[in-house]
Amino acid sequence: MKIKEIHMKIIAIGLIPVFLVLAFALPNTASTAILSGGIMITAFVATFIGISMQKKEAKEPDDLLAIPPKYCRVDPSTECQKRPAGGTRTMKTIIYYFTGTGNSLAVAKKIAAALNDCELVPIASLQKTTGNIVPQAERIGIVCPVYFSGLPLMVAAFAGRLDLSGVQYIFAVITHGGGGGETAIRQLDGILRKRSGHGLDAGYPVTMPGNYILMYSSPAGEKKEEILAKADEQIAGITGPVSQCEKRALPSSLITRLLHTLLYPWFTSHVHTDDKKFTVNDKCTACGTCAAICPANNIELVEGKPVWKHHCELCCGCIHLCPEGAIQAGKGTEARVRYRNPSVTIAELKRRS
Ligand SMILES: Cc1cc2nc3c(=O)[nH]c(=O)nc-3n(C[C@H](O)[C@H](O)[C@H](O)COP(=O)(O)O)c2cc1C
Ligand code: SF4
Ligand code: SF4
Repeated sequence: MKIKEIHMKIIAIGLIPVFLVLAFALPNTASTAILSGGIMITAFVATFIGISMQKKEAKEPDDLLAIPPKYCRVDPSTECQKRPAGGTRTMKTIIYYFTGTGNSLAVAKKIAAALNDCELVPIASLQKTTGNIVPQAERIGIVCPVYFSGLPLMVAAFAGRLDLSGVQYIFAVITHGGGGGETAIRQLDGILRKRSGHGLDAGYPVTMPGNYILMYSSPAGEKKEEILAKADEQIAGITGPVSQCEKRALPSSLITRLLHTLLYPWFTSHVHTDDKKFTVNDKCTACGTCAAICPANNIELVEGKPVWKHHCELCCGCIHLCPEGAIQAGKGTEARVRYRNPSVTIAELKRRS
């Protein structure tokens, strides 16, 4: 049997309870201490072998780093954007973005403002198209949030359709609430490399207010302002290198790579149906904002109330952006702070074309 990275992880995780029993339940003798030490070292070694095997496995052609196969289908007979023939012009840029609460769109807008001839395209607008996406630009940016130390599924699917044969420079910016952007950048690089043989020339994580309201409150007040001010500094440090098409070594983080390995497959396995937890209360005024901002077109108003259609991306936009705070996901969300990036309007978040 071929030993895979998952087996090493099972060994590492399985050894933890054995170590705990030896350390706490058995008499404190020299031989128990030596045995405990041995087991701990074996668990560490197994973890590191698991991580390096994952790197190797990711390079194998049939592995797309946790992208479910249905997202890798490409119909080569259709092209949703054709490249014009010949002609000289200044370097055109397209920044493709995905956003739930506006952080990633704010970054995309700020970078676009620093470049000449730059178009912003919502990845959500390409959902209804099929086949290759052939950008009409020499420089491409992809800006999106990190979800469980990986890419939103819609972004992974989009990247799997990108034909970069006419592109000279491609960069990514991943917004995160604390960590994981580095690993999502690596995941994106792997998909692009496999699809087009052209990986990322540069990738930048940017720390923004966290928006995973199913688990925590978003920062508010001074804390929020502080994070946004630091993010602006980070963005200012990205625009120069991007405008000069500077190539940079991609960032990496062992810890979030491990988190990706452990949590991302679980996230992708249930993300589309997590909206079963969503409910709406009597505060709803039937304004339709939730349906209009949803990047997955996953909400329909039935008799004025939202109904979720189970192809959710879990961006949390509907919960955060409902003007009445009427959408909940379990008991915890009622008291949690709602968030929208202050540089982005609801009208911009509604854009789907
Ligand atoms: C489903 C989900 C998972 C998330 N996972 C992470 C994570 O692993 N690490 C992290 O730092 N932030 C995580 N976040 C926070 C977002 O990445 C962060 O707030 C991002 O800037 C939101 O971007 P947006 O406003 O463009 O949607 C998560 C948010 C959501 C909704
Ligand atoms: S955004 Fe809020 S108030 Fe408006 S329709 Fe949706 S749930 Fe109702
Ligand atoms: S239903 Fe809500 S959480 Fe799901 S993708 Fe749409 S806006 Fe985001």
